[in-house]
Formats: sequence, structure tokens, C-alpha cells
Amino acid sequence: MKRRAIVLCFLSMVWILVGCTDKPKPVLETDETEKPTLLDENHAPIRIGFSMDTLLEERWLKDRDLFKEAVEALGAEVEIVAASGDDALQISQAEALIHSGIDLLVIVPHNAEATAAIVHKAHLSGIQVIAYDRLVKNADLDLYVSFDNEQVGEMQAKAITALVPKGNYAFIGGAITDNNAHLLKQGVFKVLRPYIERGDINIVYDQWTEDWTPVNARANMEEALRTTNMQIDAVIAANDATAGGAIQALAAKGLAGKVPVAGQDADLAGVQRIVVGTQTMTVYKPIQMLAKEAAELAVAMAKGEIVTAEQKVNNGKIEVPSVLLTPIAVNEHNLDRTVIFDGFHSPEDVYREVAE
Ligand code: GAL
Repeated sequence: MKRRAIVLCFLSMVWILVGCTDKPKPVLETDETEKPTLLDENHAPIRIGFSMDTLLEERWLKDRDLFKEAVEALGAEVEIVAASGDDALQISQAEALIHSGIDLLVIVPHNAEATAAIVHKAHLSGIQVIAYDRLVKNADLDLYVSFDNEQVGEMQAKAITALVPKGNYAFIGGAITDNNAHLLKQGVFKVLRPYIERGDINIVYDQWTEDWTPVNARANMEEALRTTNMQIDAVIAANDATAGGAIQALAAKGLAGKVPVAGQDADLAGVQRIVVGTQTMTVYKPIQMLAKEAAELAVAMAKGEIVTAEQKVNNGKIEVPSVLLTPIAVNEHNLDRTVIFDGFHSPEDVYREVAE
């Protein structure tokens, strides 16, 4: 009797233990249209919140649509908000997402420092946070998914120094609030340093561009031309939007196409300028890969799966587990086998300018 009691008691303990640890797994249900829906243990759809800085630039519209598509293809739901560069709005939008009971938050910070508060608030509600493309500084971020932004800068500087190994350079930086702008600048100056130390290259202008806008970049370039009496031999602009602004300023002085200019993002306008020769190169970042990677990781983490990432990026507080994808330098010689081959832009769009 006593032995049977012990065995029974042991079996019930095992049963309870199994019951506790084996949290019910989210189930994937499909409705009559075969659309998969991932349900959490409360039978509610898994919901991902996507807090974006802005939709002003071409690329972010792509990021929004591709991320939404990828998350929904995995059966989860996504709620997207954009703050138009307003820090207070981004924080209140993220708070609303957190209170609405999302399972995970993905964020493109406008301000790398200010958004640390969002990570803290999400964690208080047991919600993990992934930084998308741009890092959140000084926060216990769970994961960072981006491209190697320092390498973007290196590619820009290598392309321009190959054409202009000696001369006066203007650096039209990105937004000082954006950690990517700092990483890119590190990459650029890592390549330029030996030229500068040899006295071959002079940095005659170096400014951040508020909110990465073409208008601010144009004003920066006009100031660079004015303060150097137009003695500028090369321009490295942090992305195609700022390159476009700088090229407008050069064009106003009859210098467009005469001064090599580097950009980033492979915006349509950027690659069209490469075709007509007013821009030298851009750095293509296959956003479709970034969005897909981030969606898969976000849904896995929202399902309670443990995600490991080999790379680490220090955000001033912790070594953030990171996934850094590889960018691609693009110029007139490899447009077809990169942005066109990937369907990032159609040949009709890219070569339209040339045709007219
Ligand atoms: C950066 C991003 C670039 C650029 C810029 C402006 O963080 O990496 O691709 O577009 O933002 O929004």
C-alpha cells in the first residue's frame, strides 16, 4: 500500500511538472482562405508592434511593406506606427502598442538615446524589443538586426578615393540622433585617415544633416561651397537623400557630374543619378533580406522561442546580440546585376532618365 502510495504520488508530481514546464505552444490555424494565423496560449493571434521613425524616405516605405508581408506570411499580425521624426510621439505610440498587448516590439528609433525609455517600458510589461536597422543606445535591448553600417562608410570612401586620391573632401553626414550616421562616419574616416595623415586629402567640410533631409543637406553643401570658394574635389554624403541635396547645390554652381559624390540606399533617384553621371555610387542594402530576417526573429521570439545571434554590438550598456547583413557597393557598372537583378528597381525605372 505504502509503495503504491509513493508511486502514485511520484507519478502525479511528474504529471504536474510536465504540465508546468510544457507551456502550450502557439498553434498555427488556417482559415477557409488558407491564411495561416498563429495563436498564442490564450488563443489570441500573435501580434508584433512595429514602431517606425519616419516614412519620408523611399526605403522606409519598402521596409514597412516587406516587414508586414513577412510577418503575416508567418501567420502573425503586425501593427505599424510611424512618428515622423518626433521623439515624444514615437514614445507615446510605442506605449500605446505596449498597452494594447502586443507580444513583441520592433523599433526603428528616431533618436538612439531617447528610445531607451521605450525598451524599459516594454520590459516592464514582459515584452521583448528588437531594434530594426538602427540601434537603441544604453538600453537592455534583446536583439539588433541591421546591415554592417560601418562597412557602408568604408565602401563609400573606397569608391571615392579610387577616383580622387588627393584633394578637398566634403562630408555631408547623416542625422546626429541616428547611431547609423555615427557608424557610417567611422567607416568613412577609417578609410580616409591614411590619406589625411599623408596630407593627400583635406576634409574641408564635415557636418551632420538634421533628420537626413535633402533640404538640410543642400544647405550644408551650399555652405561647404561658399566657405571653400568652391574648392571641393569630392563629396561623401551619408545617403542618397542627402546626396541628392548636395548635388542640387553642385548643379547650381555648374559642378554636378564634375565632382564625384557617394550615397547610400540605392533610392530610385540615386541610381538614376548614377546613370546620368551626377552621382558616382551608392550602397545597396537588400531590404527584402533585412525585413524577412527581422520578421522571422520577431515571430520566433514572440512565440517564446530562444533566439541566438552570433554577432554582438555594444550599445553603451550591453553587448547586444546582433544580426548584421552585408551591404553592396553599386555604381554604373554593376547596377544590372545588383538592384535590377534583385527586382529592387525595374530597368524601365532606372534607365528612364537615359531614354528621355
Ligand atoms: C539610416 C539608414 C539609412 C538612411 C537613413 C535615413 O538609419 O540606415 O538607410 O536611409 O537612416 O532614414
